Amino acid sequence: MRSYSVAIIPGDGIGTEVIAAALPVLHAAGERHGFQLETTSFPWSGAYYALHGEMMPADALQTLMGFQAILLGAIGDPNLVLDHISLHTMLLEIRRRFQQYINLRPHRVLAGVRSPLREADFDILCVRENSEGEYAGAGGRVHVGTLDEVAVETAIFTRQGVERVLRFAFEQARQRSRRLAIATKSNAQKYSMVFWDEVAATVAADYPDVAATKYHVDALCARLITHPASVDVIVASNLFGDILTDVGAAIQGGLGFAASANLDPTRTYPSMFEPVHGSAPDIAGRGIANPSATIWAGAMMLDFLGEVAAAAGVMSALEAVTGAAQARTPDMGGQSTTEEMGAAVATAVRDAPYRDRTIGEG
Ligand code: NAD
Ligand code: IPM
Ligand code: MN
Repeated sequence: MRSYSVAIIPGDGIGTEVIAAALPVLHAAGERHGFQLETTSFPWSGAYYALHGEMMPADALQTLMGFQAILLGAIGDPNLVLDHISLHTMLLEIRRRFQQYINLRPHRVLAGVRSPLREADFDILCVRENSEGEYAGAGGRVHVGTLDEVAVETAIFTRQGVERVLRFAFEQARQRSRRLAIATKSNAQKYSMVFWDEVAATVAADYPDVAATKYHVDALCARLITHPASVDVIVASNLFGDILTDVGAAIQGGLGFAASANLDPTRTYPSMFEPVHGSAPDIAGRGIANPSATIWAGAMMLDFLGEVAAAAGVMSALEAVTGAAQARTPDMGGQSTTEEMGAAVATAVRDAPYRDRTIGEG
């Protein structure tokens, strides 16, 4: 039987709850489609930091190298560890060190889900740069605590980093509607974003069949709300992509639905799949988080592992459940628990009509 080793990092807050709900769905997909997920769970989190003084052990990346993929819940427990420490020494460290330079974030409204927009007929794929830019982590502070204090944080844009994400996005656009929205801010950021635009123009020359449009990121945020159907593939720098995809999450019905794949397209390192949302301390521990984003991220993982039919099966099962209002968490206006919704999707994966089982097979 085909088998895949997957490292599971539930993390903090609702991260542990949505992972617990998503795993039965992925295992059900394995049973249904003839493969096994060999999962190993790692307790790296705020609680781990409180015990060990670090988010993960020194050899964690080496350990993770032994897996074919990583599935992560959410990181961040502000009561136990400062956010910039937990995230820069773990989540962002994994993204950067494993060269997961593509962050793919799909935004569309699943069957039965209510968007806050009146017209929500959109299908957007955001390609976010994920290894450098504003998240490079280069900077420092001097004269700390005095009136002369200075803080500097330098965004780093390399030709290699910018070109590869743009090229990836043009390829995605070519496979979809051949429209690409390039997020920029070259009116204000006269070095990095002017450079970004120049590289974009160079790459665009190789894709004459793709209609690429440059939008300043502020205007693009507004466009996502006023004319979302006019946008198909988006490419954006690390920080711009972060902000655009929370807007994307909002218009698709909320953060409970937004999924994300941190990809190393060269497959040198394991790629990492996670919901866009964080640990949601405001609802953590109550069992009411929406597991859809994590289930969707799990489907993206199966797809990347080559289990295309299983990925499609998970998505149809998820939409069968949201569409039939079978199980709805409170963010969707229902009263189901995270666990109940995960169980409903797992059952739908198992009970899917034979037709679903063969999508993409043979
Ligand atoms: P958040 O995404 O955790 O929560 C924002 C809002 O969305 C909250 O009201 C929350 O209840 C709601 N929400 C999020 N996910 C939901 C779900 N699945 N179902 C229902 N409602 C959901 O963002 P935040 O509050 O800004 O951050 C909380 C912590 O998470 C911080 O420590 C932050 O740094 C961290 N964070 C981590 C990640 C990550 O691990 N990838 C992402 C974002 C934020
Ligand atoms: C996300 C998150 C992270 C990011 C944070 C937690 C560092 O907001 O994955 O969108 O900004 O990339
Ligand atoms: Mn974010």
